[in-house]
Amino acid sequence: MPLIQWNKQLSVGIDSIDDQHKKIINMINALNDALAEGQANEVLVKIFDGLAVYTVKHFGYEEDLFAQYGYAETQAHKNEHESLIKQVTELQQKMNDGDFIISIKVMAFLKEWLTNHILKTDMAYTEFLVSKGVS
Ligand code: FEO
Repeated sequence: MPLIQWNKQLSVGIDSIDDQHKKIINMINALNDALAEGQANEVLVKIFDGLAVYTVKHFGYEEDLFAQYGYAETQAHKNEHESLIKQVTELQQKMNDGDFIISIKVMAFLKEWLTNHILKTDMAYTEFLVSKGVS
């Protein structure tokens, strides 16, 4: 069973963004599966790096829309993005130093962070961006 199951509650009502969130969820689930299967640390690190790169790209997509349409909550939203990027970068640094292994605790952190961010912070832009014709 996947760690995170996509459901309509997670939809922000904008297809392009839902598709990106689904991709992030799939990557987190793939990482969780690899961990459960006992895959080598190099495999886990590779998936984690891919997840980090794609997540940064997704944040950039949202932030470009905020800038384009003048979203009032831009700064607070960007702060949350930056906080996650900082935490992920620190984990990557520890991995490179060889003193970090992906664990159930890390997976719980990723799941918690992503679902909270989508359900609270991302959901708050729906009405505004839909009113601007973003789909
Ligand atoms: Fe979908 Fe604000 O990240």
